[in-house]
Amino acid sequence: MSSMLGLGRRHSLRLTSPPLRASLSVPRSVPFRSVPFRSVYNGRDVYPVRPFAVQDHSDVPGVGSGVPVGTPRPGWKRYGYETRCASVVKVSDYAVRRVKALSLPIVLGSTFELDDSKHGARLHEKAEAPYADGDGYVYARWGSPTNEGAARQLAALEGIGPDSPGGCMLFSSGMAAITGSLSAVLRAGDHMVAPFTVYGGTHEFLVEFAQHWGIEYTLVDATNPESYAAALKPNTKVVYTESPANPTCRLTDLEAVARVVDAHAALGHARPWVMCDSTFATPFHQRCLETAGVDVAIHSATKYIGGHSDILAGAVTSNSPEFMHAIAKVQKLMGAPLAPLESFLLARGLRTLHVRMERHGANAMEVAKMLDAHPMIAQTFYPGLPSHPDHALAKKIFTSGGDKCLARRGQSFGGMLAFIVAGDADTSLRRAARLCERLKVVTLAVSLGGTESLIEHPASMTHAMIPRADRLAGGLQDGLIRISVGLEDTDDLLDDLRQAIDGCDEQ
Ligand SMILES: Cc1ncc(COP(=O)(O)O)c(C=O)c1O
Repeated sequence: MSSMLGLGRRHSLRLTSPPLRASLSVPRSVPFRSVPFRSVYNGRDVYPVRPFAVQDHSDVPGVGSGVPVGTPRPGWKRYGYETRCASVVKVSDYAVRRVKALSLPIVLGSTFELDDSKHGARLHEKAEAPYADGDGYVYARWGSPTNEGAARQLAALEGIGPDSPGGCMLFSSGMAAITGSLSAVLRAGDHMVAPFTVYGGTHEFLVEFAQHWGIEYTLVDATNPESYAAALKPNTKVVYTESPANPTCRLTDLEAVARVVDAHAALGHARPWVMCDSTFATPFHQRCLETAGVDVAIHSATKYIGGHSDILAGAVTSNSPEFMHAIAKVQKLMGAPLAPLESFLLARGLRTLHVRMERHGANAMEVAKMLDAHPMIAQTFYPGLPSHPDHALAKKIFTSGGDKCLARRGQSFGGMLAFIVAGDADTSLRRAARLCERLKVVTLAVSLGGTESLIEHPASMTHAMIPRADRLAGGLQDGLIRISVGLEDTDDLLDDLRQAIDGCDEQ
């Protein structure tokens, strides 16, 4: 029986009187729970089961007695039916303490019961902080348990634990995380430096909003730290980077940029905040905050962190309590926290991040090698290939889970790559479009980082809002195609891409 239940010897669950086999053959008319049986666990009688019994744990320190989840308020029968519908069920502290689920509980409440008026006043008079301080929650826009649990989990993957200064805040999208980070510190009259090659939405935000709010910006070639140096001004408040850059996969030397910023501060200027959108890398490959001088790590968690193309989410992590206070204020007042269900899915995604990133990397390397060697492909951009202009830097900054992971399983370089199809500008574009449409395993869709492979054409899709001159200045050529390499069978991906490339001149 124990082997039937899949249990080892030490933890064998032996059913007696009558055995489970007998109970399973009980006629259908007899409710299963009414069958009396007892179990023996390690030689000890464990129960007769009394389903839904209210247990008294008053002898257990710190637990006490209480009611299970969802018990009606005392005196519930006195209330009208409408009251019973609308407000009668309670979730006691006792019940929550005794649940002990292994996964993050999904707490859907928009508001939380206060102990007394003083408790309400106390929670309202606090300065904003990334996490609750053990005194409870007040309103979900100001913080809520599932969001906070997922945020703490992600912070730890960025190297920020419970004892470190700083923290993480989760937003309802990557764009909310980016615009939230900028709004946290930029004011009218400030200046920021940003790369030519950034996610299209980030560029569009600068054009459509930031400049109308009196914030000046300078775009630079992010592959050269000296171009950041040249762009800094006395009123520069943010030095923004995106590395690897979407879609070119070009890298920024964050250490060098931070040094440039330190040198600027040494001249007596206020030190600008150094931020990095590290969406393509994830904290598995690049822990921005472990790079001296980088203050803020941003992710579109819609991508690899969620990992299954089923949520929109954004994350901002910082080691600066001052910045965390500012970003918590943004979340509270601009109102874009990540909702509980999405927070749960994000936390679940994190639990397999390392495994997925390694497999994305292994598949992407094979795809990149095939593309690099294919006569119809003019250029391939994959940081793991020696042909990539930033390969030497990639070997330094893709930490692939850190020393222990590296020693066990070697270095990988993520799942994102880009390539340009051979031919003059028009031919290359025509072939690229045909190629995308011929694919059967890889799907034509924007976004990235899910288990499935996706392909898209940035110049006409994700980066179409960036003026062509700015795109070209950042190395984003018209014919460039971006692939998010998924977790499919490697041969299926290679065969699919080969047939699409080979047939890209056919109508
Ligand atoms: C690098 C990068 N940053 C930010 C974003 C925006 O994220 P979201 O779509 O979750 O708002 C994206 C979206 O594709 C992205 O690729």
